[in-house]
Parts: sequence; structure tokens; C-alpha cells
Amino acid sequence: MNTTAPQIVLGTMDFGTRVAPEQAFAILDVFVAGGGVWLDTANCYSFWADPSGVGGASERVIGSWLRARPGARDAVRIATKVRQNPLVAHSWPKSAEGLSADAVRAGAKESLGRLGVDHVDLLWAHAEDRGVPLEETVGAFGELVAKGTALRIGAANHAAWRVERARSLAQEQGVEPWTALQLRHSLVQPRPLTPLAEAGHRLLTADDLDLAEAQGLTVWSYTSLMWGSYVRADKPLPQPYDHPGNTRVLSVLDDTAEDVSASRNQVVLAWLMRQGIDPIVGASRVEQIEQALGARDVRLGDDHVERFAQAR
Ligand SMILES: NC(=O)c1ccc[n+]([C@@H]2O[C@H](COP(=O)([O-])OP(=O)(O)OC[C@H]3O[C@@H](n4cnc5c(N)ncnc54)[C@H](OP(=O)(O)O)[C@@H]3O)[C@@H](O)[C@H]2O)c1
Repeated sequence: MNTTAPQIVLGTMDFGTRVAPEQAFAILDVFVAGGGVWLDTANCYSFWADPSGVGGASERVIGSWLRARPGARDAVRIATKVRQNPLVAHSWPKSAEGLSADAVRAGAKESLGRLGVDHVDLLWAHAEDRGVPLEETVGAFGELVAKGTALRIGAANHAAWRVERARSLAQEQGVEPWTALQLRHSLVQPRPLTPLAEAGHRLLTADDLDLAEAQGLTVWSYTSLMWGSYVRADKPLPQPYDHPGNTRVLSVLDDTAEDVSASRNQVVLAWLMRQGIDPIVGASRVEQIEQALGARDVRLGDDHVERFAQAR
């Protein structure tokens, strides 16, 4: 696993669709004022919630905010993704752009345009594209790093074996390899082998952690807060999460939250960061990101971590 101290990453998926631009600006301001650095977006955010049927709204809001706040570009690091944007409105996944070399180049170029920046700090392949030779995708990502379009590259929602294969191909080609993984992960886990309702989501596995540990890769978790389900009766956990292991884990979560005087959400984020994982947190209100940043001050002991492990 990467050795730099884990950080809270601001998820901006809903900016410009479910979250109005002025509200997004306030969240971004509070995040940066609170010492937050990394923003996570994607070229496809959020085509499913946008009347246009294509993505780009989130990147456009970040671009407007950067223009409105002199110096902000130097204060943040921007991660975006290519792969999932529909080429034809309202026809995903049939018309998703994919990971051909042309698609990767075009996707990255358009993202820079919407963000109004000359490079991104991290470019993710948003999901696998098994219809394209991996060599081609690897070459295209490597080329973007060589040109300075992306400072780093990573793989979201990929099987660990595909990431390692891609890293070998990058070595053969003499180009930059993927050095970061982004997958869905949180304290509660669904019953094994139950399909997730959310299209495109892929759960973090022990193989991913093994790979990250062995190769020094960065790991970002998404849906870290289960959309607020830890603290909100209006958002119950989905059915695959209804099992005795999670009942025990949630009971330990309550004990731990009381023990360290923190909220359930803050304990979950602290638990992720203690394992070296950078949790992405989505926020639609300023208070939500303030609370998330507060997780950096929560100290969990070995005993807390052990109790969670035993509860499963
Ligand atoms: N790579 C991928 O495939 C992928 C997939 C999904 C997400 N992501 C990334 O991860 C980010 C977050 O994902 P997500 O939105 O699915 O998951 P999340 O972070 O678990 O959920 C965010 C939502 O939780 C609620 N929330 C946050 N803090 C809260 C608090 N203190 N109290 C009560 N509710 C709170 C809010 O819901 P309300 O807005 O309803 O209040 C917020 O919008 C996205 O923005 C995106 O950057 C990546």
C-alpha cells in the first residue's frame, strides 16, 4: 500500500446535477479551507441525472469554481475518469466511450477543456473495457503521462489480475503504469456473491489489498458512507447488507463511536484511513463535508480494529 498519510477525498459526482453549482462552490470552499486537497470527478458525471443524457456537469462546476477562486488550482489536486461517458445521449451502456486509444485521448482532452486546466493530477480508467486490447489502453494512458496531461494514472473497478497485467504491459512498453486503485468499500459488506444493484460498481477484495500492499499502490474507496445509511433512517442499507455479520459490526460501530466521541460516519472513515485507504466522500451540504473532515481527528486503537474484525 502507498505510504503517504490517507486523506479524505471530496466526491463531486452530483455537482451540477443533484447539487446546484452555488451549493457545490460552498462545499468546495469549506473542503479546501478545512485542509482537503483531492477532488474526485469523472467525465460521465452525472449523465443519468442530467437532462442532456451525457456527462460533464461535475467537471464544468469544478472548472467554474477554479476560475472564480484565484489560486484554487494550486490548492487542490484533481482526479477525473474516462470510459463511461455515453457518446449518444440516453444510450448508456451501449454507447459508452470505452478505453480505445482514441477514446482515452479524446476523453482526457475534453475533460481538460471542461475543467479549464492544462493537466489533471490523476486520471482513472473508470471501468474495464475488455473489447479493446489491454496493450492499447495501457499505451494511451502512458502517452498522456508522458505528455504531462495526467501526472498519475489509476484503475477504477478493475479486477486485480487485470491491473497487474496492465502494469506488466506498461513495463514492457516503457510507459507509466497504473499506480492507484478505486473500488467500492465500506465497513459493512454485502452477503458474498450477491450482485450489487448499482451498475458499474465493483467491491474491493482481499486480492486488491494484496496487490496494493505488494506493489505500493494507492487505494481510494467509494460509497464509503453507504450514501448516509449509517446515520439516516431514510436511507436503509440495501437488502444484501441485511445479515448477522453486519448487525454485529453495526453494534461495534455504536460502541466505538461512543468510546471515541465521534459519529458513526467518522468512525467508518477513520477505520478506512487506518488501513491506508483514502475514502472518497460525497456531500450535498456543507455540514456533511465538515463532519467528514472531522474524521481525521478520530484515533482508533488496535482494540477497536480487532473488534470490527471479530464481529464479521
Ligand atoms: N469509481 C466509481 O465507479 C464510483 C462510483 C460511485 C461513486 N464514486 C465517487 O465516490 C463519491 C461518493 O460516492 P457516493 O455518493 O456513492 O457515496 P457516499 O459518499 O457514501 O454518499 C454520499 C452521500 O451520503 C450522504 N451523507 C454524506 N455525509 C453525510 C452526513 N454527515 N450525514 C448524513 N448523510 C450524509 C449524502 O446524501 P444526501 O446528498 O442525500 O444528503 C451524500 O450525498 C462520488 O462523488 C464519486 O466521486 C465513484
